[in-house]
Amino acid sequence: MTPIEKLLSENKAWAAGITAADPEYFERLSHLQTPEFLWIGCSDSRVPADRITGTQPGEIFVHRNIANLVIHTDVNLLSVLDFAVNHLKVRHVIVCGHYGCGGIKAAMTNHDYKYVLNMWLRNIKDVYRLHSRELDAIPDSEARADRLTELNVKEQVTHLAKTSIIQRAWKQEQRPKLHGWVYGLKDGLIKPVFNMDANSHLDPIYQYDDL
Ligand code: CO
Repeated sequence: MTPIEKLLSENKAWAAGITAADPEYFERLSHLQTPEFLWIGCSDSRVPADRITGTQPGEIFVHRNIANLVIHTDVNLLSVLDFAVNHLKVRHVIVCGHYGCGGIKAAMTNHDYKYVLNMWLRNIKDVYRLHSRELDAIPDSEARADRLTELNVKEQVTHLAKTSIIQRAWKQEQRPKLHGWVYGLKDGLIKPVFNMDANSHLDPIYQYDDL
């Protein structure tokens, strides 16, 4: 059996197992999508949003990219955010980074990853530059990467708050809450590092009028 055939075979076994335990499961789920959470996580295969939070299909709306970045020209992410906030009416948006992130580590090197990865990683280099005083003072490179991972999550949560999508929802409906988390590959635990809500301070230059 090829690896691809194995995936499809495992899928059949999984669907059969679920149906055996709960014959109406798929029929019920097909009519319902009311997740309370939007998850913006890293594409890393070791950080599956539902598995590490013990949630079921239907509970978390998910967007993943390298190093969980929120970039205001990323139409993909903004479409997911718009849909989750304005149509699914999620109550929480979670940006979840993870220690040991390859994207973070790559951005800390001077290696030329060529177009188009350089373009993506530059956003993380910008976060490093904003906090270079603190980061340069950390002698151990792994500890420095861990701290950049936390600062990156904080920065991406702030980027969410800078969107008119979030500001409008905050003004009109006092939701969603924004959460910055970091997942530990070595212990499986999530550490909350930053959060914002409708009452949080946002630099005035980013605040929109006429929302
Ligand atoms: Co990663």
